Amino acid sequence: MPIITVDGQKHAVPNGKRLVLAIEEARVHIGHRCGGQGRCTTCRIRFDAGEPGTMTRAEHAKLVERGYFGDFRLSCQIICDHDMAIRSEVTLENQAANGWTDTGPAPAASVEPVAEWLPIEQLKNETRPA
Ligand code: FES
Repeated sequence: MPIITVDGQKHAVPNGKRLVLAIEEARVHIGHRCGGQGRCTTCRIRFDAGEPGTMTRAEHAKLVERGYFGDFRLSCQIICDHDMAIRSEVTLENQAANGWTDTGPAPAASVEPVAEWLPIEQLKNETRPA
Protein backbone atom coordinates (compact mmCIF):
# COMPACT_ATOMS: atom_id res chain seq x y z
CA MET A 1 0.00 0.00 0.00
CA PRO A 2 1.39 3.42 -0.88
CA ILE A 3 2.11 5.81 1.96
CA ILE A 4 0.67 9.27 1.32
CA THR A 5 1.97 12.04 3.57
CA VAL A 6 -0.62 14.83 3.71
CA ASP A 7 0.41 18.03 5.46
CA GLY A 8 2.99 16.03 7.44
CA GLN A 9 0.70 13.14 8.45
CA LYS A 10 1.34 9.67 6.98
CA HIS A 11 -1.50 7.48 5.72
CA ALA A 12 -1.49 4.06 4.04
CA VAL A 13 -3.95 4.00 1.14
CA PRO A 14 -5.07 1.26 -1.26
CA ASN A 15 -3.01 1.11 -4.43
CA GLY A 16 -4.81 2.93 -7.24
CA LYS A 17 -6.92 5.19 -5.05
CA ARG A 18 -7.61 8.63 -6.45
CA LEU A 19 -5.41 11.09 -4.58
CA VAL A 20 -8.18 13.62 -3.85
CA LEU A 21 -10.10 10.84 -2.10
CA ALA A 22 -7.01 9.68 -0.20
CA ILE A 23 -6.52 13.23 1.06
CA GLU A 24 -10.10 13.31 2.27
CA GLU A 25 -9.62 9.98 4.02
CA ALA A 26 -6.68 11.62 5.78
CA ARG A 27 -9.28 14.03 7.23
CA VAL A 28 -8.08 17.02 5.25
CA HIS A 29 -11.10 18.86 3.82
CA ILE A 30 -9.59 19.60 0.44
CA GLY A 31 -11.67 21.42 -2.16
CA HIS A 32 -13.14 19.58 -5.17
CA ARG A 33 -15.68 22.10 -6.36
CA CYS A 34 -16.05 20.58 -9.84
CA GLY A 35 -16.53 17.08 -8.43
CA GLY A 36 -13.14 15.87 -9.63
CA GLN A 37 -13.53 16.78 -13.31
CA GLY A 38 -10.24 18.66 -13.67
CA ARG A 39 -11.98 22.00 -14.14
CA CYS A 40 -11.89 23.99 -10.90
CA THR A 41 -8.31 23.63 -9.50
CA THR A 42 -9.57 23.71 -5.88
CA CYS A 43 -8.07 20.24 -5.40
CA ARG A 44 -4.63 21.63 -6.21
CA ILE A 45 -1.66 20.53 -4.12
CA ARG A 46 2.07 21.01 -3.94
CA PHE A 47 4.43 18.02 -3.95
CA ASP A 48 7.27 17.69 -1.47
CA ALA A 49 8.17 14.19 -2.73
CA GLY A 50 6.99 11.55 -5.16
CA GLU A 51 5.45 13.75 -7.83
CA PRO A 52 4.22 11.47 -10.64
CA GLY A 53 6.08 11.75 -13.92
CA THR A 54 2.86 11.67 -15.92
CA MET A 55 -0.10 14.02 -16.08
CA THR A 56 -3.52 13.79 -17.68
CA ARG A 57 -4.19 15.92 -20.71
CA ALA A 58 -7.07 17.55 -18.77
CA GLU A 59 -4.82 18.45 -15.83
CA HIS A 60 -2.19 19.93 -18.08
CA ALA A 61 -4.69 22.08 -19.97
CA LYS A 62 -6.21 23.44 -16.76
CA LEU A 63 -2.88 24.12 -15.04
CA VAL A 64 -1.61 26.02 -18.07
CA GLU A 65 -4.85 27.99 -18.34
CA ARG A 66 -4.60 29.10 -14.70
CA GLY A 67 -0.84 29.71 -14.72
CA TYR A 68 -0.26 26.88 -12.23
CA PHE A 69 1.80 24.52 -14.40
CA GLY A 70 5.09 23.79 -12.63
CA ASP A 71 3.78 24.94 -9.23
CA PHE A 72 0.70 22.85 -8.48
CA ARG A 73 -0.85 19.52 -9.40
CA LEU A 74 -4.52 18.54 -9.38
CA SER A 75 -5.15 15.78 -6.87
CA CYS A 76 -8.29 14.66 -8.70
CA GLN A 77 -6.11 13.76 -11.68
CA ILE A 78 -3.60 11.61 -9.77
CA ILE A 79 -3.65 7.96 -8.70
CA CYS A 80 -1.89 6.71 -5.57
CA ASP A 81 0.45 4.06 -6.94
CA HIS A 82 3.62 4.97 -5.01
CA ASP A 83 4.63 6.93 -1.89
CA MET A 84 4.00 10.68 -2.06
CA ALA A 85 4.26 13.71 0.23
CA ILE A 86 1.97 16.62 -0.53
CA ARG A 87 0.70 19.86 0.96
CA SER A 88 -2.92 20.88 0.63
CA GLU A 89 -3.73 24.37 -0.59
CA VAL A 90 -7.49 25.05 -0.72
CA THR A 91 -9.56 23.64 2.14
CA LEU A 92 -12.98 24.10 3.65
CA GLU A 93 -11.37 25.77 6.63
CA ASN A 94 -9.33 28.34 4.71
CA GLN A 95 -12.25 29.08 2.35
CA ALA A 96 -14.89 29.63 5.04
CA ALA A 97 -14.45 33.39 4.66
CA ASN A 98 -15.31 32.95 0.97
CA GLY A 99 -18.61 31.36 1.90
CA TRP A 100 -17.73 27.70 1.54
CA THR A 101 -19.95 25.41 3.58
CA ASP A 102 -18.71 22.19 1.96
CA THR A 103 -15.85 21.00 -0.21
CA GLY A 104 -17.90 20.29 -3.34
CA PRO A 105 -19.61 17.35 -5.08
CA ALA A 106 -18.09 13.94 -4.32
CA PRO A 107 -15.50 12.85 -6.91
CA ALA A 108 -16.00 9.44 -8.52
CA ALA A 109 -13.67 6.57 -7.61
CA SER A 110 -11.78 6.80 -10.92
CA VAL A 111 -10.19 9.70 -12.73
CA GLU A 112 -12.55 11.83 -14.80
CA PRO A 113 -12.67 12.88 -17.57
CA VAL A 114 -11.30 9.63 -19.03
CA ALA A 115 -7.58 9.99 -18.46
CA GLU A 116 -5.08 10.44 -21.27
CA TRP A 117 -1.76 10.10 -19.42
CA LEU A 118 1.25 11.84 -20.91
CA PRO A 119 4.85 12.23 -19.67
CA ILE A 120 5.39 15.63 -18.03
CA GLU A 121 8.58 16.14 -20.05
CA GLN A 122 6.53 15.90 -23.24
CA LEU A 123 3.98 18.33 -21.87
CA LYS A 124 6.69 20.80 -20.88
CA ASN A 125 7.83 20.86 -24.48
CA GLU A 126 4.25 21.51 -25.62
CA THR A 127 3.97 24.34 -23.05
CA ARG A 128 7.12 26.22 -24.11
CA PRO A 129 6.51 29.23 -26.33
CA ALA A 130 7.54 28.63 -29.96
S1 FES B 1 -10.00 20.26 -10.65
FE1 FES B 1 -11.91 20.32 -9.63
S2 FES B 1 -11.73 18.73 -8.20
FE2 FES B 1 -9.85 18.65 -9.23
